[in-house]
Amino acid sequence: MPKDAERDYLANIGDAGRHHSLYKPFSNAECGVDLASIGIIMALLPPPPARLLDLGCGGGWTSIFFAMRGYQVVGQDIAPDMIDLAVENRERNRLSPDQVTFICGDYESMGPLGEFDCAVFFDSLHHSEDEASAIDSVFKALKPGGFLLTHEPGEGHSINPHSIAAMEQYGVTERDMPPRLIVQRALEAGFSNYRVLPMPHELFDIFYTKRNHPKRWFSKRRYRLIRRVSRLLFSPDMGASSIVVLTK
Ligand SMILES: C[S@@+](CC[C@H](N)C(=O)[O-])C[C@H]1O[C@@H](n2cnc3c(N)ncnc32)[C@H](O)[C@@H]1O
Repeated sequence: MPKDAERDYLANIGDAGRHHSLYKPFSNAECGVDLASIGIIMALLPPPPARLLDLGCGGGWTSIFFAMRGYQVVGQDIAPDMIDLAVENRERNRLSPDQVTFICGDYESMGPLGEFDCAVFFDSLHHSEDEASAIDSVFKALKPGGFLLTHEPGEGHSINPHSIAAMEQYGVTERDMPPRLIVQRALEAGFSNYRVLPMPHELFDIFYTKRNHPKRWFSKRRYRLIRRVSRLLFSPDMGASSIVVLTK
């Protein structure tokens, strides 16, 4: 059962995996880009103080960052030992349960959790079996005018070698979660507005990565890059890894 595999994942990845989860994002090779992601998400959220639901919070690093910024956070995860780890993480960061609470549960079938100003899926909705139920549950948990932000991998994620290895080794779910699917499910649930925005790793690749362009101004490589930037500006790729901002 994939959901049992999600629950057992932390126990199965051993001490090194546990350490990695506890010290995220600093234990990630892509730490700088992860920090850019959380920074952009904070810039898109309504300002604190606001009630924020962090779905599939894992070891709790995003919830802790949100709490440090002044949000009143509920972090939620299906795996009981992830929740224990998130509580340990909170204590390590000297935050109180008033600032951030962690609860164990399935985001596809959440009971009433109260009313939230905003909710975030950070790299977690693509582990769902039924994204429609997950988005519908969040819709119900948000106040009118509330926001849902997703930061999810797009088309191709389920067939990348890391995902295939995780599915084979641990039995977890790794799906493509492109904006076209998120937006479709969100509109079905009742969300009224959406924006599809590029991921920081895409911006990093375009603007910060060193390239050796040919000296002449016009080249195929330059043309492809300009086309990529224009697309980001004027017609978001509904299949790509993206941040999606939804309004209830
Ligand atoms: C890739 S991890 C991301 C964790 C965290 N957001 C982070 O960035 O470190 C995905 C998380 O989603 C959780 N998850 C998977 N299915 C879930 C479900 N149905 N309900 C709640 N959490 C779920 C997993 O237990 C896991 O902690």
